[in-house]
Amino acid sequence: MGKSVIVIGTQWGDEGKGKIVDLLTEQAEAVIRFQGGHNAGHTLIINGQKTVLHLIPSGILRPGIACVVGNGVVVHLPSLLAEIDGLETRGIAVAERLKLSAASPMILPTHIALDQARERGKGAIGTTGRGIGPAYEDKVGRRSLRLADLFDERRFGERLAEVMQLHNFMLAEYYQVEPVDFAATLDQWLGMAARIRPMVIDTVAYLDGLRRSGARLMFEGAQGALLDVDHGTYPFVTSSNTSAGAAATGSGLGPTAFDYVLGVVKAYTTRVGGGPFPTELFDADGERLARVGVEFGSTTGRARRCGWFDAVTVRRAVINSGVTGLCVTKLDVLDGLSTVKVCTGYRLDGQVTGNPPLLVDQYADVEPVYEEFPGWSGSTQGIRTLDGLPADARNYLRGLEKIVGVPVDMISTGADRDHNIILRHPFD
Ligand code: GDP
Ligand code: IMO
Ligand code: MG
Repeated sequence: MGKSVIVIGTQWGDEGKGKIVDLLTEQAEAVIRFQGGHNAGHTLIINGQKTVLHLIPSGILRPGIACVVGNGVVVHLPSLLAEIDGLETRGIAVAERLKLSAASPMILPTHIALDQARERGKGAIGTTGRGIGPAYEDKVGRRSLRLADLFDERRFGERLAEVMQLHNFMLAEYYQVEPVDFAATLDQWLGMAARIRPMVIDTVAYLDGLRRSGARLMFEGAQGALLDVDHGTYPFVTSSNTSAGAAATGSGLGPTAFDYVLGVVKAYTTRVGGGPFPTELFDADGERLARVGVEFGSTTGRARRCGWFDAVTVRRAVINSGVTGLCVTKLDVLDGLSTVKVCTGYRLDGQVTGNPPLLVDQYADVEPVYEEFPGWSGSTQGIRTLDGLPADARNYLRGLEKIVGVPVDMISTGADRDHNIILRHPFD
């Protein structure tokens, strides 16, 4: 049997998962996305050249690696084709290496219109506007059109008519916005079918075969633990399970197929969109993290909110995902700060707790309890050995390890593929 590694984000997304997946894929045969959709934005920087991936797994820049979109992913075909074209015009072979699950639900134009219509109302949470929530609602509501449905065009047209009728009713009557044209959508989707069909396979059988042949598989999470629809800061979450368990349901391999879970964590915290964020900073330190960390969304370009490391939420993520080891990213962004803080607990109603509150509204009354660490004056930028780090940076990492209770197995010291310290390789 081969070895399977899951990489997940342990905060509110954008922890640097894409960079780490690309790096570790040097030792893998396939990379598999298992949840989310093109709401993800995963940045890879190789020899200074930047690539942002949304749906295509972050193994695509490694020649010969198979890239699989599992059944747990919701797929917007026009975005997928645009992403394939963008890579292929750069000379990267994509189509023959990309495998799409026949069971993946499709994101339709009406899902996007519904997402955006809701975001104009008072229930707005700052989604990416990509139709993710409405598409997952239809999956659970057993209404989805799945990629396999492209194989029977007549039946596809009938099902599309039914589901768009429902969506358009909501758009026109409830949200009072323009409905989406059915005939144009049908034409557009059937026009894409011939290109998509050769990539659509039984990904469960394919992955099981790879595993049996001894292949090493890399499962790439999207979003982060605190955006998990069950365990995150509900309702300010995405509409899928982002924790490691989703690698099983979203790929079709059972839980015993996985050997190691890598929790990617920023050395501080960021969040895009609305929702609780107890350690958020509104001062010069926060402004500095945003500026030095270049904290703008990879998908929507929105400014990310910034704050100190929150061990309460990361510890919860470790429990939810059974994290084996941590990869601490963006350590270099903390260079030059005089003091670095870590939230070790929340004070709520006079009591200190190590757990998140039961009610999302209680976050407003939570006061973070901080442990302070001395900052460091030397640079960690691009450092590739533990000994090469300033002593106080090593001290900070040891502190995180102790407070979170999981070993730091990797450290990222810059955006480039080569800027890392690997203490334990997840495939070893
Ligand atoms: P993902 O969604 O988890 O893949 O993360 P994003 O790509 O959305 O955001 C992470 C950002 O941080 C990207 O711009 C990366 O190029 C950058 N990045 C990743 N690791 C590091 C690091 O160690 N240091 C610095 N300075 N930037 C990093
Ligand atoms: P990666 O994979 C950061 C956030 C949105 C919003 C909430 C719901 O790059 O880490 P959605 O469009 O999913 O319904 O939006 O989730 N969000 C992300 N934040 N990184 C992401 O992906 C995100 N994907 C969704 O900002 O708050
Ligand atoms: Mg991102």
